[in-house]
Amino acid sequence: EPAQLRAAAALIAGAERLVVLTGAGMSAESGVPTFRDALTGLWARYDAQALATPEAFEQDPALVWGWYEWRRELVERVGPNAGHEAVARRDAVVITQNVDDLHERAGSKNPIHLHGSLFTPRCSGCGRAAGAPAVGGAGTEGPRTPPSCEHCQSLVRPGVVWFGESLPVDALEKAVEAAANADVLVTVGTSGVVHPAAEIPQVTAKLGGTVIQVNPQPTPLDPFCAVNLRGPAATVLPEIIR
Ligand code: APR
Ligand code: ZN
Repeated sequence: EPAQLRAAAALIAGAERLVVLTGAGMSAESGVPTFRDALTGLWARYDAQALATPEAFEQDPALVWGWYEWRRELVERVGPNAGHEAVARRDAVVITQNVDDLHERAGSKNPIHLHGSLFTPRCSGCGRAAGAPAVGGAGTEGPRTPPSCEHCQSLVRPGVVWFGESLPVDALEKAVEAAANADVLVTVGTSGVVHPAAEIPQVTAKLGGTVIQVNPQPTPLDPFCAVNLRGPAATVLPEIIR
């Protein structure tokens, strides 16, 4: 409602230490499916969450590598939406659970990637960063054999955090510190069910900061939010971040 939009816009305009936490819903209007959307095409028979595990990669590296390469090529074919661009207008600390590069391409500086990135593959053995993936793939669906590490010949894996794996410590520490210092935190497009990312808005709320949520659906974060804007990111964010 307009009154809630005005309230959120005033809180954000007056924020001195603004933090924006984003999830898959932030990229939905760019055409990147969220994790809990029903998958289409060849991937429809898979559960995205079943592919996002070390066991899945162990069992079928080509299927998992192919899934992430397909998603990277999809991200390369789309672009940031008006929501990403609104976020980039402010000197906010951006914390994202997304592994796409749409915040960077909209102009946000150094977003904190809590769950890694599609653009930083690394060796599953020695951990070395593998060469930047070849751009401009055809976006074909299906298994693809992952490259081998030039140093130790182990398989290269996606540079993302899988279920059961710990988050990059420096990213999590920076995110919690930013949330603790925030006077306003806007959480956008996250279902708030995956921890520890889901705790970040609570850090701000518990330390007296104000949390604003942008999500068409209610989430477990609702109780910590001063304002709950039930709408899509690309429509709402340009209204509240001037
Ligand atoms: N604008 C804003 N929010 C939206 C939009 C939109 N246009 N479309 C969908 N949403 C909301 C949905 O209502 C849902 O609450 O985005 C959220 C997407 O939830 P998930 O798919 O669970 O994505 P996310 O919360 O980022 O998942 C967290 O889970 O799968 C793991 O590691 C993966 O980072 C991911 C983590
Ligand atoms: Zn290696």
